[in-house]
Amino acid sequence: MSDIHDLIQVGLLERSYSIHFGENILSQVGEELKSKKFPSKLAIITNDRVFPLYGNQIKASLVTSGYECHFIVVPDGEQFKSLSTLESIYDQLIEGGFDRGCGILALGGGVVGDMAGYAAASFLRGIPFVQVPTTILSQVDSSVGGKTGVNHRLGKNLIGAFYQPKLVLIDIMTLQTLDPREIRAGIAEIIKYGVIYDANFFAWLENNVDKLLRLDSEALLHAVKRSCQIKADIVEIDEREGSIRALLNYGHTFGHAIEALCGYGEWRHGEAVACGMIVASKISQNLGLSDGGATRRIEELLRRFNLPIKVPIFDLKQYVEAMSRDKKVRAGNLTMVLNLGIGRAKLVPVSNVEDIFRTALPELEA
Ligand code: NAD
Ligand code: GLY
Repeated sequence: MSDIHDLIQVGLLERSYSIHFGENILSQVGEELKSKKFPSKLAIITNDRVFPLYGNQIKASLVTSGYECHFIVVPDGEQFKSLSTLESIYDQLIEGGFDRGCGILALGGGVVGDMAGYAAASFLRGIPFVQVPTTILSQVDSSVGGKTGVNHRLGKNLIGAFYQPKLVLIDIMTLQTLDPREIRAGIAEIIKYGVIYDANFFAWLENNVDKLLRLDSEALLHAVKRSCQIKADIVEIDEREGSIRALLNYGHTFGHAIEALCGYGEWRHGEAVACGMIVASKISQNLGLSDGGATRRIEELLRRFNLPIKVPIFDLKQYVEAMSRDKKVRAGNLTMVLNLGIGRAKLVPVSNVEDIFRTALPELEA
């Protein structure tokens, strides 16, 4: 068993919390929660894929530390990140006698984390929760920053709340059981941090592709930790996405359109973001904010991780229509996140959406 290597503080006044990192640290969850005086009765919300892998390990640690644990196991899949699954979670909490003195632990990827977080935010007007993320995407993105929620049949993540966890515990050992496609999709979000915020980190990623693909512990810990530090820096300044937190949506506007047009589930979110980042970089280049060298480096790095770099072919109008339904569109204006070379980005409002995308994507029919 190894130790918790390190931690990062997310400084948000009375909502502050720490992110713990390590390898084989699931067994320390109980002690960590106890040291934070986390409520002694816990609902562990997970899914039927993750429960058989890590349920017993978590339970053993919690029970040894004196916790009363109740598992709530939801079906695996984005389609179950829904109001009806949420209702079944509330049912089980009420039937299990959960009150304001109890807590929730989310064990799984972003789907479980977002839904368990929203259950915690809304049940009895809010009970404390902790995140134990088990995918790369959830470790570097969704478990940190307090965005929680579920999908509505008319769109992704439309019902939700900002609600910060009390602790995030990241065990990179859990990534060993992850499907390779999920690993690559999560790495796209790591690359995003390099493009928008940290040129040195981007260069480090260029030099560590092989290590990351073979899940080398040291490389993974560095990549996950640096990503969380960047996210924490941004969230500390702008918790509720009034300004720079929106930079984290780099590649997402077009990425969400790909996911919507191809049908949710066809493309992994990170794959769509990978493609969206290239589109954003081309637009940035066309507007004179960046150069061809940056686009080539982003494209090459994504290609080396075997992430998709070719836009699926639909009519440009279909893309524009899909983007117009994005949560980020206000009063008909789209604000794009555009990179300034590698390592910096800014928000750019665009009104002539169709023209801008036509120039960047000549391969699409007008
Ligand atoms: P996911 O939760 O669906 O997990 C992907 C797959 O991996 C699932 O089948 C899951 O059961 C499985 N899995 C999880 N951990 C595993 C492990 N250790 N070993 C084997 N299999 C494992 O998908 P995701 O990519 O983690 O998250 C996507 C979700 O996150 C989306 O709903 C998205 O909207 C949300 N998200 C939220 C934020 C935020 O800030 N809250 C940010 C980005 C994405
Ligand atoms: N995933 C984007 C954010 O947390 O703001």
